[in-house]
Amino acid sequence: MDLHLILEGRRDLAGQLFRQLREAILAGRLAAGAKLPSTRELAAQLGVSRKTTLDAFDRLIAEGYLATRPGGGTYVAAGLAREAGPASTSAIRPLAPSPFWAGLPEALALPAGEALAPYDFRGGVTDKRLFPFAAWRRCLDTALAAQARRRSGYLDPAGDPALRSEIARYLAFSRAVACARDEVVVTQGAQQAIDLLARVMLRPGDVVALESPGYPPVRASFAAQGAVLADVPVDGEGLVVERLPDNARLVYVTPSHQFPWGMSMSLERRLALLDWAGRRDALVIEDDYDGEFRFAGRPLDALKSLDRAGRVAYVGTFSKTLFPDLRIGYAVPPPSLVGALRRARQVGDWHGCALTQAALAAFMAEGHFARHLRRARKHYADRRARLLAHLRGPLSPWLEALEPAAGIHLAARLAPGHDEATLIAAARPAGISLYGVSAFYAGQPPVPGLLFGYGGIAAAEIDTALAQLPEVWGRLG
Ligand SMILES: Cc1ncc(COP(=O)(O)O)c(C=O)c1O
Repeated sequence: MDLHLILEGRRDLAGQLFRQLREAILAGRLAAGAKLPSTRELAAQLGVSRKTTLDAFDRLIAEGYLATRPGGGTYVAAGLAREAGPASTSAIRPLAPSPFWAGLPEALALPAGEALAPYDFRGGVTDKRLFPFAAWRRCLDTALAAQARRRSGYLDPAGDPALRSEIARYLAFSRAVACARDEVVVTQGAQQAIDLLARVMLRPGDVVALESPGYPPVRASFAAQGAVLADVPVDGEGLVVERLPDNARLVYVTPSHQFPWGMSMSLERRLALLDWAGRRDALVIEDDYDGEFRFAGRPLDALKSLDRAGRVAYVGTFSKTLFPDLRIGYAVPPPSLVGALRRARQVGDWHGCALTQAALAAFMAEGHFARHLRRARKHYADRRARLLAHLRGPLSPWLEALEPAAGIHLAARLAPGHDEATLIAAARPAGISLYGVSAFYAGQPPVPGLLFGYGGIAAAEIDTALAQLPEVWGRLG
């Protein structure tokens, strides 16, 4: 083990060495009984004469910090040194993070995989069993070879140019969002895209309007920038535009698939929102987090594709089409914000992982992404149909399913007289994890319901789990 010692200049080297070793022993960084390097090794490591290290060791031995043993070697003396570990915490006054961060619930982090029940209906996760890992590995290998050949250096904060081209092509084709490669900023998921947009738009005290209920991490991101949050209700057509506060500088919406209830925003509301934003110079963030999976009806035009006034930032992600731990998403802001967004990205972390971005560009260019989407869509359509059959059939005394047009989760309102927490607790001993909708309400009284994610649970598992619920819930009386 190399000891971390730094000797300065050439004066009193033995004294410097003595003081640093003594300090390391007293602070517990050198534990009682730890063996020190020989004076010869230490002299070589530090580039000093052997006499310097011998003098320092002699003094430490004389003062009882070190001891020699008959078989040879020098050790930290047992009695004087503390046990290794942090210095006594009672002597340290903790630093206080700013109240916002101290107050944020840890629960923003989802439970880890090992703690999951056998039948887990969480939203927002995908099925890695469907993902073509062999093709992904080949794309990673190619990207790695290219990375090894490239000279070391930082890259464009907006992300891999080939990936941005692929994203622009994909958006034009599948979402009718026309954008140039240089308008796309690749991010660590939708979450970072939204966080960066908030950073470049907001000053403390600015008003941000959000759908209520909504996705808590996005809410936390706006609050972290010092925004004043205005909760705006949703109904069967999405955000109720006439309830927007006049002074909102930013509006966050999930028009393809409202989170968590799942309805899509009507065309009328979309046009009303664009008109509102155009008149007030507000930015609208369109979070299209899982709109790729559409099962019913003609896809409604993305807000971005209807935006003539340059007010919409479109946000997408590969978390729901591929998997969330990939951490790749993107923003297509209005052209006026592209420069600021790139600079904000650079200030934050310069850019994302070049290897996965290049691999993803190849994965898309070679057609694997489109193939995977087609395949996943079939599986998810089947799961969704089975879920709806259970909810509308044997589970209808408890739940009223809302039919989502898109996405990888659906929600169901509770029938009158039932309570989220009771239904969730009753299912748990049967190995079934369910999730309530109330957790997504902040400002308004919650409408109780359950959210069923079907991205991570196979069709047969859905059947096995849900077939048990009528009996389990029936026992509740
Ligand atoms: C509504 C909504 N927006 C954004 C995200 C975050 O996606 P990402 O993993 O790309 O950050 C999620 C994830 O579940 C979500 O549900």
